[in-house]
Amino acid sequence: MLDLKIERTTAPKEKPTDETKLGFGHIFTDHMFVMNYDTGMGWHDARIVPFGNITLSPAAMCLHYGQEIFEGLKAYRTAEGSVQLFRPQENFKRMNVSAERMVIPQIDEEFMLHALKELIKLEQDWVPHTDGASLYIRPFIFATDPYVGVRPADHYLFMIILSPSGAYYSTGLNPVKIYVEQKYVRAVRGGTGFAKTAANYAISLKGQDEAHAQDYEQVLWLDGVEQKYIEEVGSMNIFFVIDGEVITPKLTGSVLPGITRKSALEICKKRGYKVSERRITIQEVADAYDAGKLDEVFGTGTAAVISPVGHLKWGEKIMTINDNKIGPISQMLYDTMTGIQWGKIEDEFGWVVKI
Ligand SMILES: Cc1ncc(COP(=O)(O)O)c(C=O)c1O
Repeated sequence: MLDLKIERTTAPKEKPTDETKLGFGHIFTDHMFVMNYDTGMGWHDARIVPFGNITLSPAAMCLHYGQEIFEGLKAYRTAEGSVQLFRPQENFKRMNVSAERMVIPQIDEEFMLHALKELIKLEQDWVPHTDGASLYIRPFIFATDPYVGVRPADHYLFMIILSPSGAYYSTGLNPVKIYVEQKYVRAVRGGTGFAKTAANYAISLKGQDEAHAQDYEQVLWLDGVEQKYIEEVGSMNIFFVIDGEVITPKLTGSVLPGITRKSALEICKKRGYKVSERRITIQEVADAYDAGKLDEVFGTGTAAVISPVGHLKWGEKIMTINDNKIGPISQMLYDTMTGIQWGKIEDEFGWVVKI
């Protein structure tokens, strides 16, 4: 296994005192993980160093051709004060799938879990204490060759930064308003939809803007060929409960294989629900709604865990789901997953990794 060097900061930052004001993604901890890749040498110089700016050539390939991948997961503080991760191996596994698609060199998943644990140990005082708040973890890899030309790079940086983040639902599990995008698409067959790469998010901004302009919070993407089949939401996978059947679009290559999605499916199966991963059209959802059979709609993702959908707008049709209230399956999944993440209930699936 690679060596991991640790250089501690001599100027630790003031930690936020009011955890209700953490928000998301703008406060960073004292240290970060860095590792270099050079063709011929492989990954080397793994280190934890003080958090700070980096220098890059203006010609760095990531800036021009977007050869980049990332991940997102969280560290949670239990009531006893210990810190734990939720299925982190899945994130490093997915990172290697993204890397393969973006022609980025593979990482050693076991070493990365070790390095992440060391980083969190060093930063454990940054893991928030407030119920629902957590430490967001952002691993990412990008191409650094100073070269203006399209080819896979020979030099990369792998970094992990950490950001304390506030409770997603500080005022209860409020259902979100979702807008079905009919003009733009997020991913196409043979494209990069299943990879966690910057381009997928850049491409989604336009639809997101239009949704916001109409007072909707997030976009529901349809397939890139016929714009009939449901794919996923901006940063969540999507589930429908129709006549007692729990349905989520199957992974056909244009949808991100969410770890919360996978966990929700496993919980539902274990609890005896009828679960289907299959193609589902927006028309089928609208028909179920008209027939009074659309019981619940919810998104799954690391940020919100479970996000009940209260309103779904498809063209002129506005569907109000379950009276704009959270449904029983969404609530059960939220309670089970957050219970396991914050160590409030038994981890019957063996998902937690303790720091
Ligand atoms: C496009 C997209 N879909 C789905 C998800 C949910 O994935 P996960 O459950 O692994 O957070 C995310 C968030 O990471 C995402 O960015």
